[in-house]
Amino acid sequence: MRNMPERPLEGLTSVKMKLGGLIVGAVGITVFVFWFGVRILGLWASISGAIAAVVALVFIRFLARGMTTPLREMAVASQAMARGDYSIRVSDTANDEVGRLARAFNGMATELAETDRVRRDLVANVSHELRTPLTALQANLENIVDGVATASPETLRTMLAQVERLTRLVAQLLDLSRLEAGIVPLNRQDFELEPMLAHAVREQKLHAPGIEIAMVVEEPHLSAAGDPERVHQVVANLLENAVRHSPTGCVIEVRARRNSRGVTIEVIDEGEGIPDKDTSRVFERFYRADSARASSDGGAGLGLSIARWIVDLHGGEIHPEHREPHGCRMVVTLPSALH
Ligand SMILES: Nc1ncnc2c1ncn2[C@@H]1O[C@H](COP(=O)(O)OP(=O)(O)O)[C@@H](O)[C@H]1O
Ligand SMILES: [Mg+2]
Repeated sequence: MRNMPERPLEGLTSVKMKLGGLIVGAVGITVFVFWFGVRILGLWASISGAIAAVVALVFIRFLARGMTTPLREMAVASQAMARGDYSIRVSDTANDEVGRLARAFNGMATELAETDRVRRDLVANVSHELRTPLTALQANLENIVDGVATASPETLRTMLAQVERLTRLVAQLLDLSRLEAGIVPLNRQDFELEPMLAHAVREQKLHAPGIEIAMVVEEPHLSAAGDPERVHQVVANLLENAVRHSPTGCVIEVRARRNSRGVTIEVIDEGEGIPDKDTSRVFERFYRADSARASSDGGAGLGLSIARWIVDLHGGEIHPEHREPHGCRMVVTLPSALH
């Protein structure tokens, strides 16, 4: 014998059609049972009517089974979500509006769970990054207080480096949270790339005097549309990475040119490059492709996240490419100047 369908009306694609089916079915069965009772069994009309009503109710219970289950489940799941539990999913197999609502609900639950995970990770990462220099600072200070070490210029320099790392980390976090919250509006304007790039290169050379940085702007007065200060920040971050990953004696190249989608800025180095598996992950907050090396160099893995936020706000694009034979080419595309 064929099994009864578990949810008889599941195939119908709208709540209206299901209700229509229910009403027609219930009326039909009521009329039939009433007629059968009065005509065939010779019952009184009132008794036959009562029996017909009971049969119709049972029939409705059977047909409508499962129609409102997702709604009840959603009520339970929402309460769980309010308590911070995003793991519950509701049944979403129906083809009607309730089914669509249930699928949207499940999608929302997945996204909320992901947001929650990212938030937890962020707190853990921030605490970890803050703790490292703080612990070192505390150890140095304790040694001085206990008389184990003296406050020599050498010790003080290490401590200053740790304080600088903390300051930089806090500044980056503040930047990132402002960018994500959209608090700092872009000061959009047409600006020439050459002076901005030259400025960034000069700054970077101050920090890394031993490294040569070549700059090529392929068109005189090449301009982009955007916030020059923010774009400068992107280039500074890319240059800093290029310097950090370049072996000594190598040349870093900064190029700017026009292309079909706007203007392109490239920062090219001859370092070890970014492995394929990391090309999209390097833009995640706190992600470091080589964490052992990067953390000793002082980077927290926030530079590229900030760069990508800025580029996204401009409606641009940023991605790394391989440089032959080895090295990394970071390509930033920005909208070109309007005028
Ligand atoms: N030019 C580059 N060459 C090789 N690896 C790079 C380069 N730029 C970025 N990376 C990788 O991407 C990671 C993330 O970069 P970033 O967000 O700037 O963080 P940080 O510089 O603080 O480590 C770096 O840790 C590094 O592993
Ligand atoms: Mg960096």
